Amino acid sequence: MSDDNLKSISKISTKPLRIAVLVSGSGSNLQVLIDAMQAGALPIEIVGVISNREDAYAITRAKDAGIPVAVLSHVASGKRMGIKTFETHASAQLTAWQPDLIVLAGFMRVLSGAFIDNTPAPMINLHPALLPAYKGLDTHQRAIQAGERLHGSSIHVVTAELDAGAVLTQALLQVNQKDTAESLQARVQKLEHQLLPWTILLIVKGVITLSSQASNHQSAYLPTLPFKLFFEN
Ligand code: GAR
Repeated sequence: MSDDNLKSISKISTKPLRIAVLVSGSGSNLQVLIDAMQAGALPIEIVGVISNREDAYAITRAKDAGIPVAVLSHVASGKRMGIKTFETHASAQLTAWQPDLIVLAGFMRVLSGAFIDNTPAPMINLHPALLPAYKGLDTHQRAIQAGERLHGSSIHVVTAELDAGAVLTQALLQVNQKDTAESLQARVQKLEHQLLPWTILLIVKGVITLSSQASNHQSAYLPTLPFKLFFEN
């Protein structure tokens, strides 16, 4: 996404932030947002969930919470949707929902630059590694194989280049000698369940801006991004 196309959420709003969430799997991070919304702990309204898989448990979580869901997995003939078809339907759905923010929470398809540049709101992604290290898949296994001592999760702005947009926040943990890809995944996910709601709160409060231009008072008084928000205790 070019700087010109970066959309900003800079005003401190008293209205709940309208969020659309894109998912492909279990949706444990979506559940954290649902719980925080329902408890009144986060000033958000989840206006809709898009899944590219019909078997994603995230769909059940959204439906149980009464949130509109669009499952965009197959075309009428039963064939799996190509990415272009998915993006056409997703664009129309997002335009209808008019979110202020789009959150990719375990969304596992690569989106095109054209789609990303034309979304009706800024888009952020939760990635299970300390970017810029370990873009792409199998992040936990790769971190172990490389002998990393620190690992974690990042939330970044989505741009046309995969997992390469500005990193907003990160959560960190120490890799233990006994860690496997599975144990690391579980530990990282626990951190993500704190990182995601806090990051959204910082966006709502205007502490984190998604535009390329940080306001003067921010650059003068707040630490340089990305915020390292959490260390595992
Ligand atoms: C999360 O760990 C997230 O970091 C990862 O998928 C998981 C989704 O969990 N995202 C990616 O790998 C994106 N490339 P959830 O469905 O339980 O929220």
